[in-house]
Amino acid sequence: MDESEQVPQLGDALPLVPSDPRWLPIALSDLDAVHADHLHCERKAAQSALSLIRSYPERADLVAAMARLAHDETRHVVQVSQLMSRRGQVAAYDFGDDYAAALRELIRKPEPARLLDRLLVFATIEGRSAERLGLLAEALEDPKSRDLYASLATAEVRHRDIFLSLARDTSPDTWRGRAAELAAREAEILAGRAISARIH
Ligand SMILES: [Fe+2]
Ligand SMILES: [Fe+2]
Repeated sequence: MDESEQVPQLGDALPLVPSDPRWLPIALSDLDAVHADHLHCERKAAQSALSLIRSYPERADLVAAMARLAHDETRHVVQVSQLMSRRGQVAAYDFGDDYAAALRELIRKPEPARLLDRLLVFATIEGRSAERLGLLAEALEDPKSRDLYASLATAEVRHRDIFLSLARDTSPDTWRGRAAELAAREAEILAGRAISARIH
C-alpha cells in the first residue's frame, strides 16, 4: 500500500470488543499453530479483496482499492512464510475458519445490502486481526517477530479503514448502523467459540 495515500480514520464506527484476555497466553503457548493459521488468514484476505473486484468491476474506486489491498496481503503472505522459514516451520493445510464463516452468514443477499455487508464483514475481520496482531507484537520476545507483527497490525488497521470508507461511500445513510450491528454480532460469535492458538 502506498503509505502517502490518505485513508479516513473510521474505526470508531466499528466498536469491536476487546479480545478475551485468555487468548494471548494460549496463542503464545503455540506460536507454530498461530503462524500456520496466520499464513492462510493473509492468503484469504488477498482472495477476498480480489473477489470484490470480480463482483463489482464497475466500481472503479473499489477495484483500485482492492487491487492494492490484495497486493498488501500477498506481501504479508511472503512475510509470514519467511518468518516460518526462519523458525524452521513448514506451512500446513488450511482446515477452514469458522469465525469468518459465521461472519459471512450475516451477509444479506439482495444488493446493495450485500455489498455493504461484505465490506463491513471484511472490515470486521481486519479490525479483529489488527487487534490480535498488535497483542502479539507487544508480547513476543523475538525482536524480528515483534517488528513484523507491529507492522502487520498497522497495515490491518489501515485495511479496516479502507473497507469502512468504501462502506460509507456505498451506503452513506445506513453504514454506521449496520457496522455497529455487525460489531455486536461479532462479539457474540467470539463468545460462542473455544479460544485457540489461532488468529481468530
Ligand atoms: Fe494482512
Ligand atoms: Fe488486511
